[in-house]
Amino acid sequence: MIAHVEHILIYIFLNVKSLLQNFAENGMAVEEAGGDMIELTKKMCRRGGFAAFAALISLAIGSTASHAQTPDAEKEIERYREMISDPMSNPGFLAVDRGQVLWSEKRGAKNVSLETCDLGLGAGKLEGAYAKMPRYFADSDKVMEIEQRLLWCMEKIQGLDTKDVIARRFSAPGRDSDMEDLVAFIANKSTGFKIEPQTSHPKEAELTAIGEGMFYRRAGVMDFACATCHGEPGKRIRLQGLPDFSKPGKQAQETMGSWPTYRVSQSALRTMQHRLWDCFRQQRWPAPDYASDGITALVMFLNKQAAGGEITVPSIKR
Ligand code: HEC
Repeated sequence: MIAHVEHILIYIFLNVKSLLQNFAENGMAVEEAGGDMIELTKKMCRRGGFAAFAALISLAIGSTASHAQTPDAEKEIERYREMISDPMSNPGFLAVDRGQVLWSEKRGAKNVSLETCDLGLGAGKLEGAYAKMPRYFADSDKVMEIEQRLLWCMEKIQGLDTKDVIARRFSAPGRDSDMEDLVAFIANKSTGFKIEPQTSHPKEAELTAIGEGMFYRRAGVMDFACATCHGEPGKRIRLQGLPDFSKPGKQAQETMGSWPTYRVSQSALRTMQHRLWDCFRQQRWPAPDYASDGITALVMFLNKQAAGGEITVPSIKR
């Protein structure tokens, strides 16, 4: 019980802190206080002090500016990651449950569910399907990643006007996202499966190559490419380690095998569409269109680097 109260306090605390951080000039992740603040939160919680929470907020403001990066802080953050990776305390599983309901709910002009939607392994077959996406679909003559495919099924099978679904593509306080919930549910059915990039169809091979090109393509006001931040090992922005996608292997595998994820700092389950949208912003590129072919191409390339990585989702991250 105590442990759960601690978790809840930490969630609240990290969320308040991230709000405060939004006021910082540089919109990037500021994470230095993480480790120590967690210990503090726990101590105060043991003393039974919800009131002490207010004091933590002012501490957070001070520490975002002054705290130095230390190995101790990193250890504490690692400890925090381990602590929150318990599925029983991962709110991402609430999205999985909501997604399951949405999957079988009759909607749209045709008043049918999504249960006959083919994600590549046959109508309604979900186990392991996400592990082999994006992939080529003959019915649409197109390579599609999960969200593109779901939009297609909603339109073709359900006759659903997807305008509202697209407007709610990323959840916000008071705004659920059907897509985040559905992806959580479907991806969870590939937990334990290995990432299996599809390249046998010429369109799959073509899109993977385009994704690789995009990864290294420098552009925009800062002349950044994905590779500027993710092109060599050991890079970080403050305490945020940046996975290196330039080589196939462990880093790409662990990263791609952990999305969708529950983002504690955003109190939301996030999909790869959101992650890449956010990285376009960090790259100072124009925002990509939702479920566009360019994002699918990037996911094809990232998955190629992540081939064989085990999927365990939804995960939970800062
Ligand atoms: C200016 C630096 C920068 C650029 C350029 C950038 N990213 Fe990122 N990327 C980050 C940061 C910082 C994070 C971690 C953010 C966080 O945790 O809030 C991240 C996270 C990610 C993740 C998730 C990592 C994880 O551990 O789960 C993926 C995948 C990713 N980026 C892909 C890309 C791709 C693809 C591009 C090019 C379109 C790109 N990034 C461009 C800085 C960058």
